[in-house]
Amino acid sequence: MWSEGWPCCVKTNGSTVTDPSSGSIALKGESDIVASRQLVRKLTQQLKFSLVDQTKMITAASELSRNTVVYGGGGEMRWEIVQEGLRTGLRLAFEDRGPGIPDVDAALTDGWTSGAGMGVGLSGSRRLVNDFDLRTAVGEGTCVTIARWK
Ligand SMILES: Nc1ncnc2c1ncn2[C@@H]1O[C@H](COP(=O)(O)OP(=O)(O)OP(=O)(O)O)[C@@H](O)[C@H]1O
Ligand SMILES: [Mg+2]
Repeated sequence: MWSEGWPCCVKTNGSTVTDPSSGSIALKGESDIVASRQLVRKLTQQLKFSLVDQTKMITAASELSRNTVVYGGGGEMRWEIVQEGLRTGLRLAFEDRGPGIPDVDAALTDGWTSGAGMGVGLSGSRRLVNDFDLRTAVGEGTCVTIARWK
């Protein structure tokens, strides 16, 4: 399920035993963006995130899902409940095999958009989470991994 060759998508140690602690959904269209929001809401509620933290993770997931659909031509969101020592978190990876991002620094700049957006999806998401990782290659695709810890 976790594809080879994308370092951001490699599972961390010791988090694969209990089920269902991970999964994935396809991101093809608008209804999948709604589904990703609903799934992230459910997961953050299960993890007993505060309402503010739930909203942060849901907002980031929504923005990244939309980028996957709009710019990546579709892809998937993988989710994983992660345990590191005493802390529990939710990790999400948004992966597509689209055109990739030629200038990552520009894409991460507030207000920069190649289309008609506001250009705040990536930069805003980054601020809403604890861990943020963007891997992309032109002509190959993009994978953005985020995590938020309780
Ligand atoms: N998965 C992706 N594949 C290819 N390009 C992407 C991807 N995600 C983002 N980009 C590029 O990065 C730019 C910045 O993305 P960001 O989400 O910050 O802004 P936006 O989508 O243009 O506008 P907004 O999200 O504010 O509506 C996009 O305009 C697009 O060029
Ligand atoms: Mg966007």
